[in-house]
Amino acid sequence: TKNFAVLSSGGDAPGMNAAVRAVVLACEREGGQVIGYRYGYNGLLSQSCRNLNAKTVHNLIQQGGTVLHSGRCPEFKSEQSAKTAAANLNEKAIDCLIVIGGDGSFRGAAHLSKYWSGQVIGLPGTIDNDIPGTDATIGYYTAIETAVTSIDKVRDTADAFERLFLVEVMGRHAGFLALKAAIASASDYVILPELFESEDKSLNEIELQLHKHRKDVEHDSFIIVVAENVWPGGLDALSSSLAQRTGSEIRPVILGHVQRGGSPVSQDRILATKLGCEAVQAAYDGDNCIMIGEQKGELVRTPLSEVCDASKPLTASTVKTMKLLLNNRYA
Ligand code: F6P
Repeated sequence: TKNFAVLSSGGDAPGMNAAVRAVVLACEREGGQVIGYRYGYNGLLSQSCRNLNAKTVHNLIQQGGTVLHSGRCPEFKSEQSAKTAAANLNEKAIDCLIVIGGDGSFRGAAHLSKYWSGQVIGLPGTIDNDIPGTDATIGYYTAIETAVTSIDKVRDTADAFERLFLVEVMGRHAGFLALKAAIASASDYVILPELFESEDKSLNEIELQLHKHRKDVEHDSFIIVVAENVWPGGLDALSSSLAQRTGSEIRPVILGHVQRGGSPVSQDRILATKLGCEAVQAAYDGDNCIMIGEQKGELVRTPLSEVCDASKPLTASTVKTMKLLLNNRYA
């Protein structure tokens, strides 16, 4: 049997608790023990941890956030930190560390493995879905749902006043969340980092579409989903440029951290449960420095070195749909 440690790191995501639960139950089934480190790598450095078992993970699958807490830990890049972490893991007689997080967390895991002889296994947990090696990350589906529900509400008031709304959606430097949210909320335009060329090009296109929209729908309510970190100067800059060009009354809305919270939808619970169980299996298979993902319904193990610095393209079929119904509708 093996002793496991688990931590969640970086931006929390709905479903992280479901992953912790799966790891604990799968591990206990094999006769092993699990400890949970608090606040990501910070807890690993300060040896802040607690025992996890069937009792502690009872009633956990539906809870948002992460019971282990999360944290970013810039100092974990240093050699000294990795050595401290290795010593702490050895002190607790840990055989395998499971890291639930995004690419920064996996870089930390890969760094640690240079100084620690135990196994390190990653589980992709982020609302951004910007991790290669898996079709979806834990938390992504819930965040889409939250964004869509919020945009539906914006739609009600946009319709009532016939206003133009800008809705900023998270995603760090990736447009997955914005793209899916825009399609599912029947938004009228979407600005994505992967397709953004210039402010002028986007403004021209929006103007053209708004004009057509007014003619076809005889309505002035218009919703533009904007992925964060794309528009130079942010939502306020876009808002004033658009107001100048169109003469429309514009309201900017930043959805922000609500997108990170809430009870995970079933897709995230199931994904987290499958990936968590597979991580324990992979540890018993002797795997090291890998991330567990799911691609086309199959569980996939990918070396951490391949997921850390690679970028993940948007799904071509989703982009095609978006171009047909949103950006290039009238091109
Ligand atoms: O990676 C998850 C995420 O929510 C991103 O979408 C966003 O850019 C970032 O984290 C926000 O980070 P913080 O919680 O530190 O403000």
